Amino acid sequence: MAISSLMKSPVLGCLCIWLAAIGVSAAAFQPNYDEAKVPEYRLPDPLVLPNGKTIEDAKTWERKGRPAILKLFTEHVYGRAPGRPSGMKFHTWSYDRSALDGKATRKEIIIYLTGKTNGPSIELLMYVPNQARKPVPVFLGLNYYGNQSIHPDPAIKITERWMRQGKDDIVVNNRATEKSRGYQASRWAIEQALERGFAVATFYYGDIEPDHEEGWKTGVRAALSKRGAQTVFGPSDWGALAAWAWGLSRAMDYIEKDRDLDAQRVVVFGHSRHGKAALWAGAVDQRFAIVISNDSGCGGAALSRRRFGETVERINTAFPHWFCDLFKQYNGREDDLPVDQHELIALIAPRPVYVASADKDLWADPKGEFLAAKHAEPVYRLYGLAGLGVEEMPGTNQPVGHYIGYHLRSGTHDITAYDWEQYLRFAARHFGMP
Ligand code: GCU
Repeated sequence: MAISSLMKSPVLGCLCIWLAAIGVSAAAFQPNYDEAKVPEYRLPDPLVLPNGKTIEDAKTWERKGRPAILKLFTEHVYGRAPGRPSGMKFHTWSYDRSALDGKATRKEIIIYLTGKTNGPSIELLMYVPNQARKPVPVFLGLNYYGNQSIHPDPAIKITERWMRQGKDDIVVNNRATEKSRGYQASRWAIEQALERGFAVATFYYGDIEPDHEEGWKTGVRAALSKRGAQTVFGPSDWGALAAWAWGLSRAMDYIEKDRDLDAQRVVVFGHSRHGKAALWAGAVDQRFAIVISNDSGCGGAALSRRRFGETVERINTAFPHWFCDLFKQYNGREDDLPVDQHELIALIAPRPVYVASADKDLWADPKGEFLAAKHAEPVYRLYGLAGLGVEEMPGTNQPVGHYIGYHLRSGTHDITAYDWEQYLRFAARHFGMP
């Protein structure tokens, strides 16, 4: 039975949301983890225009190649998002110059997306280093369990938004509890970032859309549509990933207004599904100076045509709300996709991009992530920029790369201090910081 019909039963629906959240679908699926069984495939060439002509310079790429590929991703993969809504308002909800033992200024900003205080909003948390010349560069990323989950700092406002049930009383009745404070702190190297002179900004991705099949009805995809929760999406209308990416752009709108922050030096990053959203945000919105994908896998940095680990059909089945409806046409038909994920990375050129994998995270296809980064190089070359600087996939814990960074961390699907160390170093290098 399809997940969509199971969801109609409240009990089974909850079970499915939970199963989908942890990445298990009701349908039996046997991922391929055998390199010998990866089918032969031909990747679309980002330098060949729809009329068959080859792009030979950066100008033609920007005028013709980039827009054509961006359109294909929009129409066939992520869906079309609206622009910046008119009337958006920013409200400083809290401001404390003595946060984290005086190391940082903590700000909590509410972004009223339609200007209405009872409409959709983003609650943006940020730490800005006190010991730095302002304006400072920023790491911006989504979080999974609310702002209070990224650091044990007791002053962070606990989100009141819907949240999927988790382990250990972190979430009760679909609301985050006091226990969720610092729950994912290991994934956020706040102090290290501050020490190196970066601000860190984040918001709960459920501010934009709760992550389940019906979540859009209480998220921005309904709130910004004339028909609200009655909306019928067209084949290329935005899915949840495009909505989360859109939210990152709205946070960028705020960053542009904050004089403590340098909007020219914003790094958008994300882990896993948030890595997919970060890549798409960086592809669409060229205000992001650097893009970082941590273990983003299928629909993120991994090549779809390899069908190693998670596949297009599997992701569309377990997470039917993530992509646009047209993407479902490619279930089991990866070779017919007009794009592949190396071109998503190429859309970020000439801006620096970093792709990271973990050696035990086969579901996300580390090799497919490396190869996508590799096959994005020809576009960087148009700008005279070096990409990875290696031909072969490096061994574990050997970061490589110039304008395209890559590492294969030892360990599982996660974002760790090791990953942050590489990202902070990469961003500092490209921003000319010590
Ligand atoms: C599931 C899903 C992945 C996703 C991951 C995550 O495993 O299949 O595509 O990246 O969840 O977001 O943690």
